[in-house]
Amino acid sequence: MNFELTEDQKLVQEMVRDFSQKEIIPMAKSLEESHAYPNELLKKLSDLGILGMTIPPEYEGIRTDSLSLVLALEELSKVLPSISVIISVHCSLFCYSILKFGTKQQKEKYLPQAAKGKIIGAFSLTEPGAGSDATNLKTKSVKRGDKYILNGTKSWITTGSESDAFIIFAAADTEAKLKRLNAFIVEKSLPGLQVSKIEEKMGLHSSPTADIVLEECQVPAENLLGEEGKGSSIAFHCLDRSRVGIAAQSVGISQRALDEAARYAKQREAFGKKIAEFQALQFMIADMSTLIDAARLLTYKAASLCDTGKPFTKEASMAKLFASEAANKIAYQALQIHGGYGYSKEFFVEQIYRDARVLTIYEGTSEIQRLVIARNLLTEYE
Ligand code: CAA
Repeated sequence: MNFELTEDQKLVQEMVRDFSQKEIIPMAKSLEESHAYPNELLKKLSDLGILGMTIPPEYEGIRTDSLSLVLALEELSKVLPSISVIISVHCSLFCYSILKFGTKQQKEKYLPQAAKGKIIGAFSLTEPGAGSDATNLKTKSVKRGDKYILNGTKSWITTGSESDAFIIFAAADTEAKLKRLNAFIVEKSLPGLQVSKIEEKMGLHSSPTADIVLEECQVPAENLLGEEGKGSSIAFHCLDRSRVGIAAQSVGISQRALDEAARYAKQREAFGKKIAEFQALQFMIADMSTLIDAARLLTYKAASLCDTGKPFTKEASMAKLFASEAANKIAYQALQIHGGYGYSKEFFVEQIYRDARVLTIYEGTSEIQRLVIARNLLTEYE
């Protein structure tokens, strides 16, 4: 067992840390306050290769190992959590699903553009009545000639209003009792696809979340992703990977919360001394730091497993569960250490508290992660 990052991993970490300091920090507050999509930053990150981290060079990406992507997402989450979820969905849910399940033509058509940030991808599984119960879809896909006709509403789609293409999941047209899903690559410009609503969210204001309405949307049959009726396996296979990305986002947010709290505690005085000198605060800081280390180790372990070919569903869910729950505890304590100032928008910890809240919800709630962990664990016993 080796706890040291490789030279290549350190290079990615330093590059993204440096970019975050120079390019993101100066504009992060105004982007979040104006709910603006970080278009320019995404272009610059694509020049650095970040949008092509899951795409091999034959499709113009810079494919790295999964831990390097995790390190990049962790760094970005320290400064602008909104951008890390846009990138995580693009890399792990959009690009990776095409790389893993797409035909040669689909890969050639979409991956080079996605690697260069010319198209940003989204993942449309959730519906108004199907969140945790993700296979219970009302959106239908019916084959007619050389097209599939899609009808239905998808909701809570990260980057939904700004992305150029989606992986859309829809129920297959079958009489069978088993719920069979189809997955499609759908370009935004297709007639019959409309962005209907942009959510007003508690946090992650620079990451637009939208509803997509499909009305007689005619998707060419060649855009079916993977085999007919195998959509749920595609969705859950890719979600395993992207849940590690959300764990990384949680670790980055937690680390920034601790950094903010520790710095504040060393400056703020009460009862004639720095509040960092009080044991009550020291205990909080010790707990926060211990949680972060544990979350980071689970996340790096799951990321390392992604590239071995061994199953990692349980480890991905453990990392996502622990890191996202920890981030919420840490954000709470960091705000508590700031006292009244933590409740003010002047301090970054107020944004951290709001941004952290969704981590235990999207890409599978904590309850769903526990279910996945238990299901997988129990198969290891007689
Ligand atoms: N890898 C590959 N295939 C898998 C799999 C995995 N980890 N887990 C399940 N499957 C396959 C099963 O083998 C099965 O295949 P067949 O139909 O061919 O037999 C199929 O997927 C369905 O599996 P289940 O029967 O286990 O499905 P279920 O209906 O019991 O649901 C669940 C299980 C764990 C509750 C699942 O629905 C789930 O994870 N729900 C949460 C959904 C979720 O995470 N949504 C996130 C939305 S995306 C998002 O948030 C992104 C964003 O924008 C930030």
